[in-house]
Amino acid sequence: MDGGADPDRRAELLRRGAEMDGVELVEYEPRQPPGSKREARSRRLVIVLWLLAGVFGVVAAGVFVFWPWRYVFPGEEGHLLYVLYTPLLGLFLGLAVAAVSVALILHVKLLLPKETAVQERHQPGASTEEDRATATATAMDTAAQVGLGSRRAVGRRSAVGKAMGLGAGVLGTSGAVIGLGGFVENPWDAQGPRADRMDTLWHSGWYPYNDEKVYLRTETADPEEVVLVRPGDVAPGSQIAVFPFRESDRGNTKKLKEALKRADNPATLYRLRPEAPVQHRPDRAGMNYGDYYAFSRVCTHLGCAVNLYEKQINRAYCPCHQSQFDLNRHAVPTFGPAARPLPQLPIAVDDEGFFHALGDFTEPVGPSFWELPSS
Ligand code: FES
Repeated sequence: MDGGADPDRRAELLRRGAEMDGVELVEYEPRQPPGSKREARSRRLVIVLWLLAGVFGVVAAGVFVFWPWRYVFPGEEGHLLYVLYTPLLGLFLGLAVAAVSVALILHVKLLLPKETAVQERHQPGASTEEDRATATATAMDTAAQVGLGSRRAVGRRSAVGKAMGLGAGVLGTSGAVIGLGGFVENPWDAQGPRADRMDTLWHSGWYPYNDEKVYLRTETADPEEVVLVRPGDVAPGSQIAVFPFRESDRGNTKKLKEALKRADNPATLYRLRPEAPVQHRPDRAGMNYGDYYAFSRVCTHLGCAVNLYEKQINRAYCPCHQSQFDLNRHAVPTFGPAARPLPQLPIAVDDEGFFHALGDFTEPVGPSFWELPSS
């Protein structure tokens, strides 16, 4: 028994199904006179909203793909465009979702019939063939009401249904573009063809390239004033914040500023007291210079600056959520929410007496996430 091909047959089955199921249709009437101007207006409004959802989705995908998203320093050309990237992405995605929501609400409020039905509870057990046919008719009628269903099943597919399909399809495609876009380049690929690039997330500004020495410098009010660090600059039981410096950057304000501002660059140079009971790790041999140890200044919990140091017990503290790192054990966390040690920066002193880095941090800097081991 066919329950969906012919609309008249479907309507009859719908009524019969309701009666057989003991359903009393207390109310079932169109919200607006069928074929009236009001109904046509409502349909047009819903169609426009679905099409707008698709347009906003396409614009969001366009922003995602084409808008300049790389960081630009304040005051430099392109900073405003960079700042607008995330708000624009959010704005157009939000507008697309809002258009879909309003379209669905208006569809129900303006186009679907008002219906109130009362039905007795069924006895448990398998449905008869007739039950299944009437249930199919009910489902097909619902699909027809919202403008969905195949041409054969509900006759001519309505313009609202086409607009809904188009808007939802375009919006879904845009969402897929944005979702898959993150896989086009793997920011964690430090081994593959991008290994020599400076913007993989495994690298910080301490990453060595071109065989150029990377010195430890302190920060002053003037980014162009380069103050390199010597062993005598740090008293026993104290610490200073240090940043990477390359001679090739001297005089280049942009590069010098970048080195000071890049989020994963800050490190702390600790000079432990001579009697500190450091438990050396074989895999960290040669990374310290006597009592001098350098670790990332970025907390492995949520990224605050680990800028407090208790010299009596050789612990570094993060003031945000009180994580403590034991410097006698290569900065393993001993208290608080941080789950992994501060990455260590291997350091040495050159022939002229200046500190320089022997390589990048031992691990990626910053908050932990599921891909990182706790070591
Ligand atoms: S950010 Fe350092 S303890 Fe939370």
